[in-house]
Parts: sequence; structure tokens; C-alpha cells
Amino acid sequence: MRSVHDLATPAVIVDLDVLERNVLRMAEHARLRDVRLRPHAKTHKVLEIGRLQLGAGACGLSLAKTGEAEVFAAAGFDDLFLAYPIVGEDKARRLLALSERTRLSVGVDSLEGARTLAPPFHSAGRRLDVVLKVDVGFHRVGVLPEHAAQAARQIAGVPGLRLTGVFTHAGHGYLRDTPAGVADVGRSEGETLVAVAAELRASGLPIEVVSVGSTPTARHAMAVAGVTECRPGNYVYHDASQVSLGTCALEDCALSVVATVVSVPAAGRAVVDAGSKTLSSDPLRPQPGGHGWILGRRSRIERLSEEHGVVSVAEGDSFRVGERVRLLPNHACVVSNLHERVFALRGERVEAELRVAARGRVD
Ligand SMILES: Cc1ncc(COP(=O)(O)O)c(C=O)c1O
Repeated sequence: MRSVHDLATPAVIVDLDVLERNVLRMAEHARLRDVRLRPHAKTHKVLEIGRLQLGAGACGLSLAKTGEAEVFAAAGFDDLFLAYPIVGEDKARRLLALSERTRLSVGVDSLEGARTLAPPFHSAGRRLDVVLKVDVGFHRVGVLPEHAAQAARQIAGVPGLRLTGVFTHAGHGYLRDTPAGVADVGRSEGETLVAVAAELRASGLPIEVVSVGSTPTARHAMAVAGVTECRPGNYVYHDASQVSLGTCALEDCALSVVATVVSVPAAGRAVVDAGSKTLSSDPLRPQPGGHGWILGRRSRIERLSEEHGVVSVAEGDSFRVGERVRLLPNHACVVSNLHERVFALRGERVEAELRVAARGRVD
């Protein structure tokens, strides 16, 4: 039986005990709040982990890309939401094919975009379920709350579409410096979206889905009465950013990277065989600060090139060539997208090699 010490480095490892605990905890939060959990599977992109989430009570999965949904639908996942404004006639044709094998809904945030999705469904005598994205402060995509009613009415009137609800993602929670600040963002995420849903219902639209969710804000947004669904993703793995935000403790991080020290070229500097190809260049949140933590050590990865992680050696710490270390990445979701497989560990034993089946599906 292989152990973690036998793996070629760099290797992405997942602690199954921690992963399972994370999955159950979030499922329990949702159950207590009577909110449907629809985890964002873009974090792991692994079919087995998706099944674990459904087994713990998730109602379905969220994904971002049509290609990701194709991978999960082909594997038998039968309730998928594309939490992204999907645009384009090519996508619409693929969505029609997808909707024949899975219950499907997709995000929209404009009449123009929504119109590109409708024709194949209308011609087939079908309707695609669409959910309006609302911007509650992240300022990435989504209509502003004050424009939601007008956009919703227009989109609901497009033949071939059925508007079923509203959704949002409070990504700005990742920029708040304190847990109390993150909680504020989560509460306001829920309250704003519930108010938008009420306004849409008052104008005669049958809004069923009121969907919030990011890992830092999930518990706070779910506590708002009227929220029906939550879509956290990162919580299965967690990472250095979640620890920094106060979302979880270090022992709640399931994903890490085993790396080898390949050079100690100068006092105060060591280099590991994990660079941006392995860890990505995503910054630490809420404040930038290096490119990953070395577990059990005070030293940090200070800079990256593609194959090199350059460690700034803290006073009193030391590294030797050939030594193995475990790295905690800043952002676990992008790490899984960079790797063909992750190694699932029970303690130090490699229990399974999990294929990151939907990685790289960017269209
Ligand atoms: C639209 C949307 N919903 C949900 C999520 C999940 O958020 P998190 O990764 O913080 O759990 C994301 C993540 O980027 C997202 O973009």
C-alpha cells in the first residue's frame, strides 16, 4: 500500500477525514437553516467528491462552465446549475443537449445574453430554466438590485426561457479583514437578495430560487429568512485564505501539496519544486502575503516562478536539499484545476487517486 512518502513531488494530497468532516458540517448548517445546499463543484471538479456531497444531502451541484456540466452530466449527475451568465448560440445548443440528460438551470444577467440562449429551446418546444444574477456588492457580474425587477420582467418574457429565481455571490467577503466584517457581508448578501426576490414576486413573477453563497459568507447568508439555496464551493478543501479570513482553522484544511526542497542556494533562501504550475499565482486573502504556507514551519513561500517556489527562511528555521515539506496554497480551487489527479489519504496511506475530471473545461 502506497504512503504519502512514496508520491512523486509535487503532489496534491487530500486528507479524507478532513474532507468528509467539511462536507458534513456544511450539510448540517444547511439542514439546520432549512436551506438547500448546492455546492459549487468548480472547487474540486472531482466526480467522487460530488457524490459525497450529494450523499450528505446536497440537492444538486453548481458549476461555472458548460463543459464542466457536460462532464458531470455524463457521469449521471442529474441536477446542475451553471452559476455564471452563459451567453452564446453555441452554448445554447449544448445546453439543450445537456437538458435532455439532467435537470438544468443557468445564470443570466442581461436580456441580450438571455436572448442568445432561447432559440434552440423555443424551436424544440422546450423552456430553459434561467436564474437572474444580482450584484450585491462584489461588482463583477450581475444586475444591480435596483435594476433587477426590470431585467427580470424582460427576461421572463423571452419565449423559450423560464425565469425561476435570483442568485448572487458575495465575493467581496474575501476582502474583509475581520470575521465580523465577513459576517456583515454575508447577512447583507442574504437580506439584499431576499428583498429583490420579494420585489420580483410583488410584480407577479413566480420566484422560487433565492440562491446565495461563498464559503466565508455561507453560514451568515443562510441564516437570513427567505434564502432558499446556498452554493459554497471552497469549504470542501479550505486553504490559507480561509484560515486568514477566520472561516476555518488550520486543521480544517483538507488539501495540501507535498513538495521537495530542491535547492538551498543562500542563507535565508530555499527553493521547493512547486511553483505557479502547481500552486497558481492567486494572492492570499484578505491581504496579499506570499504564495503559500509551509505547514509546521514559520517560513513562507515568498515568490514563485513556474517550477520554483522560493522560500524566505524565517529566523531559526532551516531547510536541507531533498527534504519534503507540505504546502498550504492560498487558493485551493485553482490548484485543483491545475492537476490531473489528487491523492486521497487516510492518515499517511494513499487510499485513492481521484481524477480531476472536469479540470480545464473552460468553455
Ligand atoms: C457564482 C459563484 N457561486 C459560488 C461560488 C463559491 O464560492 P466559494 O469558492 O467562496 O465557496 C463561487 C466562487 O467563485 C462563484 O463564483
